[in-house]
Amino acid sequence: MTQIETDLKNLEATARTAIAASNNLEEVEGLRVQYLGKKGQLSQILREMGKLGGDDKPRIGALANQVKENLQALLEGQKETLANAEIKAQLSRETIDVTLPGVGRAAGRVHPLNSTVDRIIDIFVGLGYTIATGPQIETDYYNFEALNIPPDHPARDMQDTFFLPDGRLLRTHTSPVQIRYMESHEPPIRIVAPGRVYRRDTVDATHSAVFHQVEILAIDKNITFTDLKGTIKEFLKQMFGEDLAVKFRASYFPFTEPSAEVDVQWRGKWLEVMGCGMVDPNVLKAVGYDPNVYTGFAAGFGVERFAMVLHEIDDIRRCYSNDLRFLKQF
Ligand code: DAH
Repeated sequence: MTQIETDLKNLEATARTAIAASNNLEEVEGLRVQYLGKKGQLSQILREMGKLGGDDKPRIGALANQVKENLQALLEGQKETLANAEIKAQLSRETIDVTLPGVGRAAGRVHPLNSTVDRIIDIFVGLGYTIATGPQIETDYYNFEALNIPPDHPARDMQDTFFLPDGRLLRTHTSPVQIRYMESHEPPIRIVAPGRVYRRDTVDATHSAVFHQVEILAIDKNITFTDLKGTIKEFLKQMFGEDLAVKFRASYFPFTEPSAEVDVQWRGKWLEVMGCGMVDPNVLKAVGYDPNVYTGFAAGFGVERFAMVLHEIDDIRRCYSNDLRFLKQF
């Protein structure tokens, strides 16, 4: 055996041990350069080949190639092993223990007044109504006059009003939305209008100076009181549950004729839940509709009233006090 062959075999043996002992990819790359690189140990040995006689050259050339291939394969294999081990280690580092206790986050919830409005609106949207809104600061015209309540009409006493210095006022009901909507739309109309309203009431368990109403209005040809009754009954049925006794009581509102108040029997008691009626011809005239062509019905009800009844809330003031002990119950 020539010296070169011995050197080649020794080189392969040392390289094998070194590659097997390498711990990371940089080390493997370092070994590749050290043994197989341009200025590496294998190249250095092969430089000696020039001095060889012709007989030995093919044999030693074949051995040199063999050593090179063996080492290349070993380096590749080691690279793969180390890369796999790295992935495995990373995966186990990043393992999440799903049984550890989590970080608690308090969930917010919908205020009972908002959830009540949402429920009411959902029912009317289901019946084909569109949502409409109007401003909380109103003019006397929209809040009263256009609704058939002239300046000195005694019906103004029903709604004690907050006036602003400039003569405008805080709307006392959502009925002005009827006028605004009719002024800017042609029949047929079906709207549901939720909103905040204001009255100069002394605050107690059942009264608040600020509260919420929902108004509904339907205008079309041939709308009758039967349509009003059917709509209200369907709404109340969906709101309170199936077997509900509903009573229409004759009443008075300046903007409807005839007018009614509606009571429902709930948990053994009659509860007054809303005012309603056929839209007064004067109201239709005020917005330029011909009362001989169009008729319609309207209704208005208090959101707090519904929320208090449905959730058995004993005092309206709880709705505005932001007491978490109360709010967390919903
Ligand atoms: N606006 C009335 C109020 O606040 C409620 C009302 C009664 C509205 C009859 C209506 C209605 O649309 O037809 O007391």
